[in-house]
Amino acid sequence: QTGKFTYDPGFTSTASCESKLTYIDGDAGVLLHRGYPIDQLAEQSNFMEVAYLLLNGELPDRKSLDSFNNTITRHTMVHEQLATFYRGFRRDAHPMAILCGVVGALSAFYHDSTDITDPHQRMIASHRLIAKMPTIAAMAYKYSIGQPFLYPKNDLSYTANFLRMTFGVPAEEYVVDPVVEAAMDRIFILHADHEQNASTSTVRLAGSSGANPFACIAAGIACLWGPAHGGANEAALNMLREIGTPDRISEYIARAKDKDDPFRLMGFGHRVYKNYDPRAKVMQKTANEVLDKLGVDDPIFDVARELEQIALSDPYFVDKKLYPNVDFYSGVILSAIGFPTTMFTVLFALARTVGWVAQWNEMIADPAQKIGRPRQLYTGPTERDYVPVDQR
Ligand code: SDX
Repeated sequence: QTGKFTYDPGFTSTASCESKLTYIDGDAGVLLHRGYPIDQLAEQSNFMEVAYLLLNGELPDRKSLDSFNNTITRHTMVHEQLATFYRGFRRDAHPMAILCGVVGALSAFYHDSTDITDPHQRMIASHRLIAKMPTIAAMAYKYSIGQPFLYPKNDLSYTANFLRMTFGVPAEEYVVDPVVEAAMDRIFILHADHEQNASTSTVRLAGSSGANPFACIAAGIACLWGPAHGGANEAALNMLREIGTPDRISEYIARAKDKDDPFRLMGFGHRVYKNYDPRAKVMQKTANEVLDKLGVDDPIFDVARELEQIALSDPYFVDKKLYPNVDFYSGVILSAIGFPTTMFTVLFALARTVGWVAQWNEMIADPAQKIGRPRQLYTGPTERDYVPVDQR
């Protein structure tokens, strides 16, 4: 007898939480970090200052900012044994696979900052994760192209250090282009945190069980990888390259509207924004600036802008309130800077580590927090008796 349990209509499993970090108004297209609008932070602040803001709740004064920068800088080097860890991967391993594996292993190297009941250890783990992610990400890239790892340099900014470890080689000094550094830093700010998105919720759920912070961030990286989430930036640029020229856009618009076709416009739509993602506006402006300053004339950017114009005047997208999101233009900039598409989600994870760590700290510090336990609406068979195999 199979039937369905009726369920108590009063039972709801809203997996929501309280947070002071980030506010989103999806209908108005508003994003605030601790009350500051994302466009002001992107245009006037820098990634380390935003990291401090998300972690501590207030913008730092000069002394606090210098001290925070100094602390993060002094955690950028990784345990030498970790370099050996990379050699277990195939050279063609996706950098996100490497990132998942290496970050998940960090608790084996930094077990003196895994006791989540100790606020001092929580702070050390937080600083280590924020500081070491650029080094780990750069090493993943270097390993994939068969080049030697570079050590971080303490006289460089957070973002300049990352660029040098990624694109520099031992044979010659790498000079960081200020245009590239500013664009990269702004992209990090735009990806820093975004309320209770899928990967942040994953980090919180993992953290609610008392798992160590390195394991929690590795869980967030795994979730972010999906093409519906952080993997969309890689998928969006691959889509734009597949379209290739403006005359082919209508073919892809038609596919995106076809209920029987699983194709979705990558970099379009959002679970919360039913208006233009404010980060996408800053990203498009930054793409314009970077391509102009670097003298890059990438036809893909023209395809992206043309596609956006066509989609935003199409009733299907207008009625469903589908707008470009943070992932639509980011790939154009990252490609102009020199990153392969396989590194795009790694860069998203690098930046989102700040938000994940800040959200994890906020949750762990709450004495009332309990283990997450989403419930379900059961729709399976009602109770029935076992039947021996020869009687089935
Ligand atoms: C990120 O949550 C966050 O905050 C995430 C993020 C962050 O910073 O952490 O902002 C980062 O993940 C941004 C999203 C990146 N993903 C993509 O760009 C992939 C392409 N986008 C779609 O897969 C989609 O828009 C989602 C997954 C983002 C949202 O999917 P939903 O929840 O189904 O969107 P919806 O409910 O608003 O969809 C409404 C309708 C649906 O059709 P109907 O069922 O009503 O017939 O629009 C359709 C959807 O099928 N639709 C699309 C579409 N996105 C939604 N149709 C074509 N192309 C699209 N991109």
